[in-house]
Amino acid sequence: MTSPTLTAFIAQAAALSRRHPDPADCVLGLAPLMLELIDQVDSFLEPQHYRSDPNHYARNLVHDAPDGGLSLYTLVWLPGQWTPAHDHGSWGVVGVVEAVLEERSYVRLSADRGADTGIELVRGGVILLGRRAVTSFVPNPDHIHVTGVPVERPRAVSLHLYGRMMNSFNTYDVAAGTRRRVALAHNES
Ligand SMILES: [Fe+2]
Repeated sequence: MTSPTLTAFIAQAAALSRRHPDPADCVLGLAPLMLELIDQVDSFLEPQHYRSDPNHYARNLVHDAPDGGLSLYTLVWLPGQWTPAHDHGSWGVVGVVEAVLEERSYVRLSADRGADTGIELVRGGVILLGRRAVTSFVPNPDHIHVTGVPVERPRAVSLHLYGRMMNSFNTYDVAAGTRRRVALAHNES
């Protein structure tokens, strides 16, 4: 059952992404919409969207556009759960619904010429995203980071809107300077 709030958000997001071929313009328009959406999550998030997994952070599909151009997920982070270092291959807008999501970013020093080796990454800053924080990223150069929740902090829940079906992305071995493509069904965790 889709709520009017969610339907309106998706329609606005689709219109913005059609109107703005430059992803930086797209996220500029979407960030304030995500901020509004966070305040209305009770109208469309259901218990299954708060599903967690004891083995890794859980990704729960909220909406996927029929044309594949948008997807919205909740991510549920139990204490101590982190992503690997990864990129997105898409623009994205993230809003925090509950607790604090931590982001540790990397800066890529070597140019991306498509090779999966010889990737020089250095650690960048840390950002603590509290409830109602909104952050975004655009590709090329892709945004590379680790996100999660340290063991000493409570469960966090975040909303993630992407400009495509998130059925693949790159993960990075920072020490080895390599990356590999990870494929997963867009509606699986
Ligand atoms: Fe990410």
